[in-house]
Amino acid sequence: MKRIVIIGASSGLGLKSALLFAEKGWKVALAARRTTPLQIVKNQYPDSVVFSQIDITSQDAPQRLLDLIHKNGGADIIFLAAGIGWQNADLDLQKDLQTVTTNCLGMVNIVNTAYHYFANECYGNGHIAVITSIAGTKGLGISATYSATKRMQSCYLEALEQLSQIKGHNIHFTDIRPGFVKTDLLDPSRSYPMLMSVDYAAQKIVSAIIARKHVAYIDWKWHIVVALWRLIPRCIWRRLSIKIES
Ligand SMILES: NC(=O)c1ccc[n+]([C@@H]2O[C@H](COP(=O)([O-])OP(=O)(O)OC[C@H]3O[C@@H](n4cnc5c(N)ncnc54)[C@H](OP(=O)(O)O)[C@@H]3O)[C@@H](O)[C@H]2O)c1
Repeated sequence: MKRIVIIGASSGLGLKSALLFAEKGWKVALAARRTTPLQIVKNQYPDSVVFSQIDITSQDAPQRLLDLIHKNGGADIIFLAAGIGWQNADLDLQKDLQTVTTNCLGMVNIVNTAYHYFANECYGNGHIAVITSIAGTKGLGISATYSATKRMQSCYLEALEQLSQIKGHNIHFTDIRPGFVKTDLLDPSRSYPMLMSVDYAAQKIVSAIIARKHVAYIDWKWHIVVALWRLIPRCIWRRLSIKIES
C-alpha cells in the first residue's frame, strides 16, 4: 500500500487531493491547524487515514511531522499543500510578514524535515511534492510578497533536486504550479481569469505527483501563459497594469 503525507489538507487543493489519494487506496496521513475537516476524512476512510494538528510555522512542526509519518507507518511521498496569500497592493506589512513566515519558513520546516527523513530513514529514497504557483514565475505587483515567496519555494526545490544528485540520494521533487483555482485562498468578491474548479485542479495535481513530474503547470493553458509572459522584457513588464478587478 502506497503511503502519502499531506500537509495543508483541511481545505482546498490539499483536502481534495487527500480524498483522491484515499479513494485510490493509498494510506494517507493528513495535517493542518484545523482538525475538524481532517476528522471528517478519517470518518470516511477509517482504516487508511491518520491525522495530526501541525502549524508549519511553529518550532515543533518538524517533530510533529516525523511523529505523523511514523503514525502512518512511513511515507513514500510527502506533499506540502499548505500556503497562504493575498493581493496586497497596499503593502500591508503584517500580511507580508505572515506570507513570508508561512510560505518560506513553514515550507523549509517541512521540506527540510522531509529531506532528512528520506535521507536517514529510507536509504536516500523518497519523493517531495510542493504546491508553489505560477505567481512565482514572474514578479506580480499586486501580490508582490506572495509572488516572491512562491519564487523562493520553486528555487528551493530546484536546488534540493540538485543536492539530492550531489549526495547520491534518490529523492525526487515535484514543483506544482497552478493558475487560479476556486478555493478559500482567493477573494470571492473578485473575478479571476481562467479560473479552475478545485476538483479539476486536484485531479491534475494528483496525476502529476503519481507521474513523478519535476515541474507541473496546472493546467496546460496556464503553462502557455507562463511561457508567453516569460518572453516579456522587464522594461515592458514593469509598465503593465495587471490587476484582478472586483
Ligand atoms: N487557489 C489558487 O488559486 C492557487 C493558485 C496557485 C497556488 N496555490 C497554492 O496552493 C496551496 C493550497 O492553497 P488552496 O488554494 O488550496 O487554499 P486553501 O483552501 O486556503 O488551503 C490552504 C491550506 O493550507 C493550510 N495552512 C495554511 N497555513 C498553515 C499553517 N501555518 N500550518 C499548517 N497548515 C496551514 C490550511 O489549513 P489550516 O488553515 O487548517 O491550517 C489549508 O489546509 C497554497 O500554497 C497556495 O499558495 C493556490
